[in-house]
Order: sequence, then structure tokens, then C-alpha cells
Amino acid sequence: MFQAIHETVQHIKARTAQFEPEIGIILGTGLGGLVSEMEVEYSLMYPNIPNFPISTLEFHSGKLIFGTLNGKKVVAMQGRLHYYEGYSMQQITFPVRVMKALGIKHLFVSNAAGSLNPDFKKGDLMIINDHINLQPESPLRGRNDAEMGPRFPDMSEPYSQKLIEKALSIAETEGISCKQGVYVSVTGPNLETRAEYKYLRVIGGDAVGMSTVPEVIVANHMALPVFAISVLTDEGFPEVLKPVSIEDILQTAHEAEPKMTKILSQLIATL
Ligand code: HPA
Repeated sequence: MFQAIHETVQHIKARTAQFEPEIGIILGTGLGGLVSEMEVEYSLMYPNIPNFPISTLEFHSGKLIFGTLNGKKVVAMQGRLHYYEGYSMQQITFPVRVMKALGIKHLFVSNAAGSLNPDFKKGDLMIINDHINLQPESPLRGRNDAEMGPRFPDMSEPYSQKLIEKALSIAETEGISCKQGVYVSVTGPNLETRAEYKYLRVIGGDAVGMSTVPEVIVANHMALPVFAISVLTDEGFPEVLKPVSIEDILQTAHEAEPKMTKILSQLIATL
């Protein structure tokens, strides 16, 4: 993998005039709008980047975007990769390894998720303060490369407490209501049954989604501090469960996105 990362990094550097991002951002489903706040300098399509998996989802445009946001140099992935698309865990997390090799010091992640906590409603934001991995394997399975990180990485603070506190204080100043809680990752692509939503709540989840955790595990493996936030796009409350469609999810993500963008862009400015 070292060789593949090196090759990809060389290719990207040659096409971005050696641009050195300080912050990496992975934008979730329906949450690409942060890019419109950026002063974009370079934009590379995934299919043109060697070793990059190609996002198969139509609503994901699949671009790696370099530029500045509030004066900070950032690289943003517009279009993330999911396990349910058929990629391996190593493929999904390859871009995180590449962004780290390009020099990022922090990783920001957004996603759309279903609420499991009756106090967290559709349209709310939830800062992720911990997770439960229910995806079938870890991206670290297989031979460990000690140059990248330890065989048994610590996960006692998978999400930077310092960044969580800063974000909460930004949200308060801006008058944005923002929850915090535990994100459970599942494989998908089907949504959950009533019994599954009930189970996920019982085991300690506040929100459920199909992404984020693989990237966060790999970031922790490389000692890269993470900030992650969910837009709650539907309510997985078993007693009153209603059918949800991807259109509903995208619509809710779109409506709540400006609140999230405000928090992320101000948080980035503090780094
Ligand atoms: N379940 C799983 N993933 C999701 C959901 C959900 O209810 N909403 C958005 N992503």
C-alpha cells in the first residue's frame, strides 16, 4: 500500500503545484455545499487519480478539491465511498491515507444519519463523540505497516474532544442547536427494520449510518485528530416508523446543511 500511496501523492502534487493542505474534509451524502464556501484552486476527478476508487453513486460527483476555506488550506473529498458499493475497507479508506501523506493535520467528516435518540429530531445536527462499529470488518485487518501506525491502535478518544468543545461553543454563539452522541455504523444499503432500530438504540446508539467509521479508524491509526458531524435526516423510532426514501434523506440533508457548513467553516478558521 505504501507504494500506491506514494504514486498517488506524486501524481496529485504534480497537478496541484505541490499544494500542501492542512485540513482534510470528507463530505457526506447531500452535504457537498461546503465546497461553495471554498476558494477552489485545483479540482481532480477521482477517475483521473491513480489508485483512487471511483464513486459509483450518481448523486456523488467524485472530486478531490484543493483550495482555501477561511484562510486555511484544505483538501475536500466531494463524494465519499461506501462499503455497500462493493469496495474493500482498504479502498474506502485509501483517500484518508493519501490526504495524510499530503500533509493534513486534521480530518473533518460529515454524513447523513438516522436518529435513534427520541430527543434528536429530523433536521438536527449531531456532533459524533463516539462510535460503535457494526460493519463486518476493520480497515486495519491484514498486515500492519508499522510506519503508518500501530498494530493495535488506541480508540479511547476517536473524536477530538478539543474540537468537539470548540464546535459546541461555535454552535452556541451562532444560536444553532447541536446535539452530540454515539454514531453506529452499519453496512446498508437497506435502511433498518423496526427491530434493528430498537436494537441499535438499546446498544447505545444515538444515530445510525453507513459510513464514517472506516475513515475514522484509519485516521486514528495514523494519529490524525478527527471531527465528525451528522445531519439527522430521518427518525428511526420503532413505534412510529414511517417509510423513508433517499429523496427525503437528500432533501433534509440539503435543508440542514447551511447550519453544518457554518460550524465546520468557523471551526476550521480556529485551527
Ligand atoms: N439508517 C442508516 N443509514 C442512514 C439512515 C438510516 O436511517 N439515514 C441516513 N443514513
